[in-house]
Amino acid sequence: MSPSAATTKATPTTEQELENTIQKLASLKPIGHSSFKGDVKVGYSGSWIEGLPEATKARYARHGVDISKGYPYIPENDKIPKFVDEAYKIREQDYPYIERGKNADPEKKALFGAAKDVIHLTKHIGTEIVGLQLSDLNDKQKDELALLIAERVVVFFRDQDLSPQKQLELGHYWGQVEVHPQVPRINEELDGISVIWQDYFREKYGLGLTFKKAIGGNSQWHTDLVHEHQPAGITHLHNDTIPKVGGDTLWASGYAAYDKLSPSFQKFLDGKTAIYRSAHQYIDRENPLKGPKYIEREHPIVRTHPATGWKSLYVNRSMTLRIVGLEPDESKVILDYLYSVYEKNLDIQVRFNWKPSKEGLGTSALWDNRISQHFAVWDHEGLDARHGTRVTSLAEIPNFDPESKSQRESLGLSLN
Ligand SMILES: [Fe+2]
Repeated sequence: MSPSAATTKATPTTEQELENTIQKLASLKPIGHSSFKGDVKVGYSGSWIEGLPEATKARYARHGVDISKGYPYIPENDKIPKFVDEAYKIREQDYPYIERGKNADPEKKALFGAAKDVIHLTKHIGTEIVGLQLSDLNDKQKDELALLIAERVVVFFRDQDLSPQKQLELGHYWGQVEVHPQVPRINEELDGISVIWQDYFREKYGLGLTFKKAIGGNSQWHTDLVHEHQPAGITHLHNDTIPKVGGDTLWASGYAAYDKLSPSFQKFLDGKTAIYRSAHQYIDRENPLKGPKYIEREHPIVRTHPATGWKSLYVNRSMTLRIVGLEPDESKVILDYLYSVYEKNLDIQVRFNWKPSKEGLGTSALWDNRISQHFAVWDHEGLDARHGTRVTSLAEIPNFDPESKSQRESLGLSLN
């Protein structure tokens, strides 16, 4: 074949041919996680229901959740955006946000008064509340919990009998619940609850997690949903099936990461913005043959939390692309350093083991994605099941207030 014939065959020469190609691409099965290049089967999955852990089945049965059609459920192909401009438009308009923690009692008397115990797991991040069911909280307690999460970054509740419906209701209280266009969910009815099931993701999205390569998917430092116009605030993961050993998650504090930097470096970053990307990819309408593309969005690299008023470093290795206004090499060097501040300083992290004290009950973690990163440790190697449901409340349009202080400055702690 001559070179010209090869070119003719590979490249559409007319607008009609190009349009046909675009339509053909759009009719393909949706693209899954960014690390996966294959097709994803949509609708209800029949084959996975048999492998659903017993504790999950029992939870759903107790709370009248219908999984008779199969499990999990992925929206049908025609409901999933194919083009990056379509996906970009999802929740692009400003959405009113009420910061529930803002006017809460700083002493949190209603929440702490009802708990058996309140345990700070490390000095700078992570608190466990003992003896309270999340499903029983009243609005005052929910406000105080929002403030506690804003201060402590992540809050844990073991031994929960929590229905997915109640989990969703709690999420609606704290903000607009994120409904992902294509991630697996429980069923068609429960919009806004994502299934977090690593065994399933591993096979479905081709996540090549092994002992030798235990980094990928949720098992890497990241912050959820940074590409949204109003990115994630409180995220609530309820694990109803937890490995006997391992399956821990780590969180790191963005307030503390910011406080680790020198005043000169803080000043350099204050007011700058960065470009953040989505986890999923879509087709670029302008350049459809170039391959899938992420949604990109610009946000401040230092954010001020509306409840605490503290500054937080808003970067993560998985989803931050570049700092606006810098040369690519400059941006890379600086971002790599900022990631390392989060990742290497163990004093600003908490590692949590999810195991409940009572068999058959689940554990909830509620964290603030505006001020943190997290990492799910892949040490159970798919031998012990781990399954949960996740609800994310989206928060405000990210804001940097030049008058705001760092956490340590505000609390009068040593800045050295
Ligand atoms: Fe995550």
